[in-house]
Amino acid sequence: MGWDSLKTNGAAYQLANQLRFANVTWTVRLPHQGFPHMHYDPRSERAPLPYDPFKSCTVPRPIGWISTISNAGIANLAPFSQWQNLTFDPPMVMFASNQTPDGKRKDTVVNAETTGFFVWNMATWDLREAVNISAADFPSDVDEFERAGVTKAGCVLAPAPRVAESPVHMECKYHSTTRLPGRGPMGTVDIVFGEVVQVHIRDDVITSDGRLDIAKIAPIGRMGYYDYCVIRETFEMVIPALDPRLLQGLEGRGDV
Ligand SMILES: Cc1cc2nc3c(=O)[nH]c(=O)nc-3n(C[C@H](O)[C@H](O)[C@H](O)COP(=O)(O)O)c2cc1C
Repeated sequence: MGWDSLKTNGAAYQLANQLRFANVTWTVRLPHQGFPHMHYDPRSERAPLPYDPFKSCTVPRPIGWISTISNAGIANLAPFSQWQNLTFDPPMVMFASNQTPDGKRKDTVVNAETTGFFVWNMATWDLREAVNISAADFPSDVDEFERAGVTKAGCVLAPAPRVAESPVHMECKYHSTTRLPGRGPMGTVDIVFGEVVQVHIRDDVITSDGRLDIAKIAPIGRMGYYDYCVIRETFEMVIPALDPRLLQGLEGRGDV
């Protein structure tokens, strides 16, 4: 039996793994309970599957469709699925941009750092083709709004334009960049943090009780491989919290 085939059997793999390092230590660990499964250490092994499963484990990822402007005045637009809100008071966000194969920072990072702003545009089902086109690696002197076929709308504070066709936007003030070194240029990532300083929501995507109409907006999310999802169905669950302030905070009530 080869090492790879052992991995499909949790108990056998663990025993073999311990024997492998027998000269170092004997440990007693809980057996890998449950269904047979594979596992691997991404620091030293390739995933024993035809496609790397890592990105499929965190799904769906919201898309940071980010617009910026360069010092030369060229509008830039690109999607980042390594995007998140981090906290809400004050609202802080981040996106993580891997460097190019040549080891350069992407235009979005350079523009956010040099102008001090970036703008988030909500990526929706209707805008999916434009999102995809804006991911192409156009040179920095190309206006990516024009290439993606979307319209520029002005911002209140940020110098960059918003995507007029998108129903929700956040103007973000650049905070800082943290670089995590990778094994190669593309593994090296610039994590850009920002504070949300303006929120724009189109009137027709607000429900009569004052919430975002997600079913109408139909946001898209990134899955693994070339897969996406679209959100048209949601459900509600209330945490059985004891402190009502926690519930009000989670609900996002404006008076808390
Ligand atoms: C849906 C989607 C999500 C993406 N997410 C990321 C990401 O999280 N990080 C990244 O570095 N590139 C990501 N890309 C690739 C960038 O969009 C692409 O490199 C783009 O050209 C960067 O543009 P810029 O150089 O104008 O900043 C993604 C592409 C697509 C289609």
